[in-house]
Amino acid sequence: MTQTNKLWRNARIAIFDGNERWDWIENGAIVTQGETVLWIGETNSLPAKYIASVEGEHDLEGACVTPGLIDCHTHLVYAGNRAREFELRLQGATYEEIARAGGGIRSTVAATRAASDDELLALALPRARALMSEGVTALEVKSGYGLSEQDEARSLRVARRLAQELPLTVRTTFLGAHAVPPEFDGRADDYVSAVCDWMPRLHADGLVDAVDAFCERIGFTPDQTRRVFNAAKALGLPVKLHAEQLSDQHGAALAAEFSALSCDHLEYVSEAGIKAMAASGTVAVLLPGAYYFLRETQWPPVAALRAAGVPIALATDHNPGSSPTLSPLLMMNMACTLFRMTPVEAWRGFTVNAARALGLPDTYGVLRAGSRADFAVWDADHPRDLVYRFGHHPLLRLVAGGVEVSDHIGCALRTKTLASSTHGEGAQSAPYGVAL
Ligand code: NIG
Ligand code: FE
Repeated sequence: MTQTNKLWRNARIAIFDGNERWDWIENGAIVTQGETVLWIGETNSLPAKYIASVEGEHDLEGACVTPGLIDCHTHLVYAGNRAREFELRLQGATYEEIARAGGGIRSTVAATRAASDDELLALALPRARALMSEGVTALEVKSGYGLSEQDEARSLRVARRLAQELPLTVRTTFLGAHAVPPEFDGRADDYVSAVCDWMPRLHADGLVDAVDAFCERIGFTPDQTRRVFNAAKALGLPVKLHAEQLSDQHGAALAAEFSALSCDHLEYVSEAGIKAMAASGTVAVLLPGAYYFLRETQWPPVAALRAAGVPIALATDHNPGSSPTLSPLLMMNMACTLFRMTPVEAWRGFTVNAARALGLPDTYGVLRAGSRADFAVWDADHPRDLVYRFGHHPLLRLVAGGVEVSDHIGCALRTKTLASSTHGEGAQSAPYGVAL
C-alpha cells in the first residue's frame, strides 16, 4: 500500500532529540509518510524530491510544534470519585488513615466492580480526550481498581478499547498489587499469590504490557513486591513500581534489581535507591499532581536524581484519590514551581523520557526523520511559554501517526493568536544581558 506524503510547513519546531537545552528548528517543515516522519528540518533546505512527493499540504502559520505528549503514568479506568475523601482530608484525616479505614483505593474498587465494561469505557473516553486536548498522543493505563482476575481483565480490556476508539498509543500496565481487596482481608500474602496466578492468563490474553505494584506501608511489602516481580520476569514482562511515595521502603533498589522501566513518585527515595536506579537505567517518574493534592511536603530529590544521571519523566498520575487532574501542562508547570525542574526538563519529562519509562521504541517522544509522526501544534511562541502559563487551553492542532486528529477532541480548539506569547524572543536569546 502506498502511503500518502504530507507537508506540514511554516512551523517552529522543538524536537527534543539531544541532551542540551532546547533543540529547535526556527523556520521548519515536516514531511510525513504514513505514521512516520520522513523528513524534518529548515524549510529552505527541504529537498525538491520531497516537495514533489507531497499530496497534502498544511500551513502551520508559524506556530510552535512539539512532539506529542506522553502521559506515562495514569489510572484512567475506574468508576466513582473520591470528592468526599477530599473533604475528609481537609478536616484533618490523612490519606493513609482513610485507606486503613477501608476507604481510598478500596472505595474506587467497589465502584469499578459495580460498573459495566461499557460504563467504564464511557467514563474513560472523555478523560483520554481531555488529555488529548493538551497534546497527548500516547499514554499508559494501569489496572488496579478491579483486584479480582475478572475485574482486572475487564479494566485492561477497556484500556485496550481506548486505543481502538481514539487515535492514541496506549500501553497497559497490570497493577493487581495496588491494594488488598476486602475478600483477602488480613491475607495479603495469599492475595499476592492470586495476583501471580492471574498474571500468565492476563498476559496470554494480550492484556499486559508491563507489571506494577504499590510498595508501601498501606500497599505491599518489598518481599511481596519481589514475588510479583518474579512472576513478571518469568513471563518476560517489564516491571515498574510505585516506590517511596509515603515512606522509604527501599522499593527503588528492589525495582532496579529487576531492571525496572521506571520508579514512580519517589519523594522518600534514598541516595542508595537513586544510585541503584542510575546503574539500572531506570527512569524516575515524578508526579507533581499527587504531591500537590496530598499536600506532601517532602520534595522528590530532583537535584540528586539529576546529578546521578537518572532520566526524569513526569506524568499526571490521573486517579480519583491522589491526583484527579487531566492536565499535563499544569503538571509541567508544577514540576518547575514545586520541584524546581527547568522548563526543558519538564518537556523532556513528558516526551522523550516518558517514552523510555514506558519502554516505547525510541521513535516516540522525539521528532526526527524516522520518528513517529505524533505532534502537537500550539498557540505559543516557544515551548517554555506553555510551561510558564497555566490554566490556558493553548492547543491548536493535534497530529497522531501522521493524521490530524483534532476532531476527536471534544472541546473547541483555539485559533492562533500568539497574543500572550513572548513573540519574537525566539529560542536562543538571553534577554536583559543575563546568561540564562
Ligand atoms: O499513584 N499510590 C498508589 N496509587 C495511586 C493512588 C490510588 C488511589 O488513591 O486511588 C497513586 O497515587
Ligand atoms: Fe499511580
